[in-house]
Amino acid sequence: MNKDMTIIEQAVDLLQSGELVAFPTETVYGLGADASNPAAIARLYAAKGRPTNHPVIVHLADFGQLRKWASSVPDDAFKLAERFWPGPLTLILPKASHVLGEITGGQQSVGLRVPAHPLALQLLKAFGGGVIAPSANKFGRLSPTRAEDVRSEFKDEVALVLDGGPCAVGIESTIVDLSKPQAMILRPGMIEQSEIESVIGPVLVSHKQSEKESITRAPGDLASHYAPTTPLQLVSAEELNRIAKSPAADLDRTAVLSFSVAPGCCNWIVAENDPNSFARDLYQNLRQLDKLKLDKILVETPPQEPHWEGILDRLNRAAAK
Ligand code: TXA
Ligand code: MG
Repeated sequence: MNKDMTIIEQAVDLLQSGELVAFPTETVYGLGADASNPAAIARLYAAKGRPTNHPVIVHLADFGQLRKWASSVPDDAFKLAERFWPGPLTLILPKASHVLGEITGGQQSVGLRVPAHPLALQLLKAFGGGVIAPSANKFGRLSPTRAEDVRSEFKDEVALVLDGGPCAVGIESTIVDLSKPQAMILRPGMIEQSEIESVIGPVLVSHKQSEKESITRAPGDLASHYAPTTPLQLVSAEELNRIAKSPAADLDRTAVLSFSVAPGCCNWIVAENDPNSFARDLYQNLRQLDKLKLDKILVETPPQEPHWEGILDRLNRAAAK
């Protein structure tokens, strides 16, 4: 590779040659490949260990490319894109005919998103085409929010990791399906239901929590997903208070992520009690606790409030093992 090339030029060159390039977005790091190159797509699914019927999101440089990737763009899609792009929102729309079935899980719809990270936007602009980018983790594991998380998970399967520092949002985008007559939130995120509804009116919310319901290619994720390797359990503040009083020996094998109780124990992380900070740090905190290789991770259940919807969804899936 020519040493005089900028890092973005190198990344574009690699994508054009069918290689995988990881890049930061405002939500989590994505593992990128050319959305129009079947060999690159196959390489990406193999690297992730992702079932081929599980669709991926196409990342675009700007709003204007929407029409190139969707066969029809309803008014609601324009309204949402105008309001939230670049940003942590994915729209599911009827796919344009050139969109490969390999990236849609064989469905007639496609997921589209313009991310709000400067490096991602530079890359997408310079590349010109669509870049598929699932979260840059092995299938079912925690999404990465720092470049080093990607490097440690993939090593040489990924040609280049663009380092944009830690992700600001921290959990994956809100997904809104506009390919059917009634708009539906398929995956909650930090753009919450009321914000979507303030732009397009009432929406349905998909509640696919059980493994059985969600195992198909039907959108969304398997119930057990976004998981650390240590078993994770959600517990109330009262339960944690009780556990905090147990003898040191019992606490030694338990890792805890909570809002307040911190009994001078090294396996305890106290998280900030506002949803934006909690989401930003969530995967990093879980990775840190997972690395301790203890018997379990206890997480204090966050408030059941709209601001916490996306976080509760990820924690419930992580606990669904
Ligand atoms: O924030 C994000 O969305 C991150 C960053 C990298 O952009 N990406 C991400 O991708 O979370 P991934 O592949 O880990 O999750 C994509 C989700 C999956 O749950 C998939 O089922 C859904 O998007 N999806 C993609 N295309 C779809 C389609 N045509 N219909 C229904 N669901 C779709
Ligand atoms: Mg993912």
